[in-house]
Amino acid sequence: MVDLEMDGDQEGGEGRSGASRGGAQSAMSDRQLRSKSRGYGRFLLEYLKMPSVVGAIAPSSKSLARRMVEWLDLENARVVVEYGPGTGAFTQAILDRKARQCRYLGIEVNTVLGVMFRKRFSELKLYEASVADVKRICDAEGITEIDCIVSGLPWASFSTASQKAYLDAMMSVLRRNGQFVTFAYLQGLMLPAGVRFKNTLRDYFREVSRSKIVWNNLPPAFVYRCRR
Ligand SMILES: C[S@@+](CC[C@H](N)C(=O)[O-])C[C@H]1O[C@@H](n2cnc3c(N)ncnc32)[C@H](O)[C@@H]1O
Repeated sequence: MVDLEMDGDQEGGEGRSGASRGGAQSAMSDRQLRSKSRGYGRFLLEYLKMPSVVGAIAPSSKSLARRMVEWLDLENARVVVEYGPGTGAFTQAILDRKARQCRYLGIEVNTVLGVMFRKRFSELKLYEASVADVKRICDAEGITEIDCIVSGLPWASFSTASQKAYLDAMMSVLRRNGQFVTFAYLQGLMLPAGVRFKNTLRDYFREVSRSKIVWNNLPPAFVYRCRR
């Protein structure tokens, strides 16, 4: 998911601030660029180790992050859970929109990406676990219902059995009328796994719609917006 623009839109580094401008700050900008490059390198390495789990060679773009959260009623949510946050490409977009009292939980199965996430968002709670365990995690946190789930999981690379196991677990905690968003790559619409996932979503949710395509992401992607 490499961004097409070279304007700092790409996520994945260790810092949280955007690229700085001007002479005195250009050294910091260089440092940020180096940190981002290291971030991409580690992400790519994790992909090479576990392609079907990581599912992307680089973190998502900020454009996709904005598209992921724009439909969500985050201002009124009490609990938001992020599935597979990786290095946190969507996390800042969630934080920018959610109310202060809304709780955030992340669930990330990859240890290396989890460490990178914690460096960027040390104040947030991240479980190093599979989303199959979401109910157990919610029980441990005293959470009975989730309002919004933001998913970065590579659903099309999972088997049908895993897709269903993760969605069944989700249904045990996502509240009625709760919202679920997840992205998919454009080319996936032509692949059997992508079509299967789209149909599976319609079995689980009463509303499923698609966002406009985010071209500023490589590969271009779109967002499924689902309401229970
Ligand atoms: C395509 S990457 C997306 C990362 C980030 N959200 C982004 O958009 O840049 C998929 C992420 O889902 C994580 N993941 C895959 N299977 C998972 C599972 N069963 N439970 C939790 N995280 C999982 C991977 O480790 C990886 O961080």
